[in-house]
Amino acid sequence: MASSTSFGIVLVFIFLSITADVSKILPPKVFSVMNYGARSDGSTDDSQAFLRAWNDACEWKGKSRIMIPWGTYMLNSVTFLGPCNGEMTFLIRGILKAPTNPTLFFTNTWIGFRYVDNLTLEGGGYLDGQGTFAWRYNDCYRNNRCLPLPISLRFDFIRNSNIQNISSINSKNAHINLFACNNINISNIKLTAPANSPNTDGIHIGASNNVKISRMNIGTGDDCISMVSGSQNIDISDVFCGPGHGISIGSLGRSFEKEYVMNINVVNATLKNTQNGVRIKTWSPSSSSLASNITFQNIMMENVSNPVIIDQDYCPFCPPMGGQSISLVQIRNVTFRDIWGTSSSKVAVSLQCSRVVPCQNVKLVDIDLAYKGPGGPATATCSNVIGTSYGKQVPSGCL
Ligand SMILES: *[C@@H]1O[C@H](CO)[C@@H](O)[C@H](O)[C@H]1NC(C)=O
Ligand SMILES: *[C@@H]1O[C@H](CO)[C@@H](O)[C@H](O)[C@H]1NC(C)=O
Ligand SMILES: *[C@@H]1O[C@H](CO)[C@@H](O)[C@H](O)[C@H]1NC(C)=O
Ligand SMILES: *[C@@H]1O[C@H](CO)[C@@H](O)[C@H](O)[C@H]1NC(C)=O
Ligand SMILES: *[C@@H]1O[C@H](CO)[C@@H](O)[C@H](O)[C@H]1NC(C)=O
Ligand SMILES: *[C@@H]1O[C@H](CO)[C@@H](O)[C@H](O)[C@H]1NC(C)=O
Ligand SMILES: *[C@@H]1O[C@H](CO)[C@@H](O)[C@H](O)[C@H]1NC(C)=O
Repeated sequence: MASSTSFGIVLVFIFLSITADVSKILPPKVFSVMNYGARSDGSTDDSQAFLRAWNDACEWKGKSRIMIPWGTYMLNSVTFLGPCNGEMTFLIRGILKAPTNPTLFFTNTWIGFRYVDNLTLEGGGYLDGQGTFAWRYNDCYRNNRCLPLPISLRFDFIRNSNIQNISSINSKNAHINLFACNNINISNIKLTAPANSPNTDGIHIGASNNVKISRMNIGTGDDCISMVSGSQNIDISDVFCGPGHGISIGSLGRSFEKEYVMNINVVNATLKNTQNGVRIKTWSPSSSSLASNITFQNIMMENVSNPVIIDQDYCPFCPPMGGQSISLVQIRNVTFRDIWGTSSSKVAVSLQCSRVVPCQNVKLVDIDLAYKGPGGPATATCSNVIGTSYGKQVPSGCL
């Protein structure tokens, strides 16, 4: 009796594991937005059709593929919510267009994904944020119009997912934002906005772990990639950045952001005509925090204003005497290795660390940066830095 019961249980287990496997092997069920009433005429709002397709796909107990065929789709602010019952693919073959008027957005998200596991976003299509009007409208400094402009693609609480082979142009705010994500691979993506478009970060990462970014082509108006509080285990490789503000860690140490930034590796990047190359930036004054284990390696600079920079005195709205190198963010274990090319300003290497918690274990290895403009050659300036340098050092003078 006992043995036949356990035999039955074993059978049930076998059955369950077979059906589980079958749903993994089966091809995905396709949910085309066209079957949910999308018009793809470039002007009718297709948001509801997309949301209905998502809801059905998300409920499907197996692999789902949301299909967005060739065509142009006007979408208002939409958020695709999980958790879902199986792996989700969001296949964008067409063009998604945002409304131009930023006052139509009630959230700072244009297209959002939340609480989804095993998501793949791909398809060769692109997102057009239609930012031109919003950038002019959001004139925070002169006319005090400071709208929370929508980020084109927001990922919140997303795990085990891939974002690949898509493009984004003219985002109103950042192109892509990751918050509280884990195990995300981002590759083969093109992000484009004009050099003078405000706040159009390429990829902005916060509170996220295990993110791999590769094969990126980014030309935008703010940081190509920025990593803030809580960014850990981030690997970035094969990135072209320009125009833009470079690849940046920070700004760190705002009073409400204390999570550490750790294990960031940036290798094989080219920066061209950018404001910064590779940068770590913290507020001064700041809350106490830690940024450690950071490597920038094999990076070519072409006409970059601040190719290698640590700035612990960041305080754009402080009075001129305000920044006094009193950041409490400890920066340690940072390596700049194999960094070469041209600087568009005389100071090619600038490491300005905190007087209170000096940078520790900073390494400069094989640096070769030229400045050909007036007042050359290039120089390096450091303060409050403990570290070493070896290999080629042009310009020299630090460490
Ligand atoms: C996501 O994938 C993992 C690993 O394959 C699996 O354990 C989990 O059940 C999947 N979740 C969904 C919602 O597909
Ligand atoms: C990107 O997507 C397009 C359109 O679906 C496809 O033809 C192309 O092969 C994809 N490229 C990669 C590298 O996956
Ligand atoms: C991301 O890529 C790494 C290998 O580079 C792989 O180990 C990991 O499983 C990938 N993650 C996802 C979500 O596909
Ligand atoms: C970086 O480029 C070198 C060749 O210059 C290559 O050997 C290495 O695999 C690349 N690393 C990554 C992470 O792409
Ligand atoms: C160098 O970069 C600046 C932007 O930082 C740009 O205005 C200038 O045209 C570039 N010079 C060359 C020679 O490309
Ligand atoms: C620092 O990075 C190295 C390799 O990049 C890794 O082996 C080590 O565990 C990291 N240290 C910490 C404290 O995470
Ligand atoms: C800094 O690196 C040393 C070894 O080089 C390691 O022992 C230490 O844990 C690292 N500290 C941090 C905070 O990553």
